[in-house]
Amino acid sequence: MAVIAPSRNVPTHIAIIMDGNGRWAAARHLPRAFGHRAGAEAVRRITEACAELGIRYLTLYAFSWENWDRPQEEIHDLMALLDEFLAREAPTLHRHRIRLRAIGRLQELPPATTVNLRRLMDETARHEGMTLTLALSYGGRQELVDAARRLAQLAREGRLDPQHIDEELLARHLYAPDLPDPDLVIRTAGEQRLSNFLLWQSSYAELYTTSKTWPEFTTAELLEAMAAYGRRERRFGRRTTVPVG
Ligand code: FPP
Repeated sequence: MAVIAPSRNVPTHIAIIMDGNGRWAAARHLPRAFGHRAGAEAVRRITEACAELGIRYLTLYAFSWENWDRPQEEIHDLMALLDEFLAREAPTLHRHRIRLRAIGRLQELPPATTVNLRRLMDETARHEGMTLTLALSYGGRQELVDAARRLAQLAREGRLDPQHIDEELLARHLYAPDLPDPDLVIRTAGEQRLSNFLLWQSSYAELYTTSKTWPEFTTAELLEAMAAYGRRERRFGRRTTVPVG
């Protein structure tokens, strides 16, 4: 696959709300676990496609803070799939020089999963291709609460004057302050909401939704989303560059 040359119209950072695994399974009269398994296949497919297309950062909403409220059996299935992904996809990450990272309240994950995750993050830490960030046990509001707690702690220790808290300082206390904000947020399965995903970072992201469920999301769908992004004019609150009237 051809690598798209970096340009103003190619997103540097794509973030995806992977939705519709359950509906994909239900439409096929299959248990939900089959939908999540098909979803994990899509994770591999789209990760490889993004790396080959020259996308610099891909962030996937793999397990939300709210997902802890799902039945125990489904949580177990999702964690098992994550473990399988971490064990099986290491060669894919190495082949494409992909660096793996994670954001979220990772301390809530099962200890064995945390070990597997940290191991693969360490093994890929020097890769200079795409950065793949998995949002795990992640919530945008929880991330802001955690940042507020850290700032309050610094203030209590006398190491921070609250008057010095500004956007830049708060952003530096998020889970992965060095990641650029997403340019394009894709959501599958027809829903049109952010569902607590990258609330701070998505302030000026372009949103793209598709009716396709996540297991149905192909490279062609990805290219369509990127093409739609390429047609958008990003103004960041400024006036349009085309004079009107
Ligand atoms: C939404 O489907 C998706 C999730 C709950 C999380 C995404 C998980 C995967 C893609 C599988 C494993 C991930 C990795 C990284 C190996 P849903 O169950 O909410 O679908 P529904 O809304 O149709 O019920």
